[in-house]
Amino acid sequence: MDGSGHLTLTGLFGHPVRHSRSPAMHNAAFRELGLPYVYVAFDVAPESLAAAVDSIRVLGMRGVNVTIPHKVDVMPYLDRITPEADLIGAVNTIVNENGVLIGHNTDGTGYVRSLLEESRLSLPESPVLILGAGGAARAIVTALAWQGAKEIYIANRTRQKGDELAQRIAALCSVHSVSLADIPELIKRVRLVVNTTSVGMHPNVEESPIDPALLHEGLVVSDLIYNPLETCLLREARRRGATPHGGLGMFIYQGAEAFTLWTGAEAPVEIMRQTVESILIPRR
Ligand code: ATR
Repeated sequence: MDGSGHLTLTGLFGHPVRHSRSPAMHNAAFRELGLPYVYVAFDVAPESLAAAVDSIRVLGMRGVNVTIPHKVDVMPYLDRITPEADLIGAVNTIVNENGVLIGHNTDGTGYVRSLLEESRLSLPESPVLILGAGGAARAIVTALAWQGAKEIYIANRTRQKGDELAQRIAALCSVHSVSLADIPELIKRVRLVVNTTSVGMHPNVEESPIDPALLHEGLVVSDLIYNPLETCLLREARRRGATPHGGLGMFIYQGAEAFTLWTGAEAPVEIMRQTVESILIPRR
């Protein structure tokens, strides 16, 4: 709270939001920097989305995160969309600039920031294999291409969705949609494999999106899932000498970038990480 007792309101629009770790993460970050902000999760039913967006202006909120199922549907209600969010076709952060609502997407940039900090990959020299072609894949493929990846392969169960995603970013880099049968050959040539599907997520923790026997030394294997913190894919990658990169970093950094957009301050990422880990790893 500032000296006058006033708080600036931020939050999350999703449906459901009960299990979100964002309120704990952001409120810990605000506390750490002594900023007079608060973050509240709002369960917004799809039919109430327009009214909820209007309430950002009416209540003078500084901004919100937007999550499933609203990331695409929220776009028509905003005043401006950043070029990156436009290319991704989804918004995960709204900033209220004096009544003008701007839609950003920090998922992809947050992902790339955590990948580069944790793995030391050089994107221009690293061919990439993406597993999946949904909303998360779109954010990640776009950010990877935007930040220098030159060669991207997309393998999705439904090939047509892979084709559509490849077409969407074809202007940015060399990108190909491939069939699942191509993975065994392709994986010998790439440097980075990213799982964007939900395969391996709690409670199906023994499932892997690809045959673990294909993993080899020299790969960075990245999984967007952070529950469990170490998926079957990442465990197998580590056992085979590859470098694992977990999904928690993406979650922390998409939040860190939203935090900076709202407050103008550098986010205390270590406190944010500790806060989320303390929720994810039950205390003994
Ligand atoms: P998100 O926003 O998390 O990316 P999404 O847009 O629903 O969610 O996309 C889910 C992705 O995971 C899709 O690529 C989906 O493949 P399909 O396009 O074939 O549906 C993929 N996926 C989900 N469950 C899967 C499974 N059991 N095996 C393989 N791919 C799966």
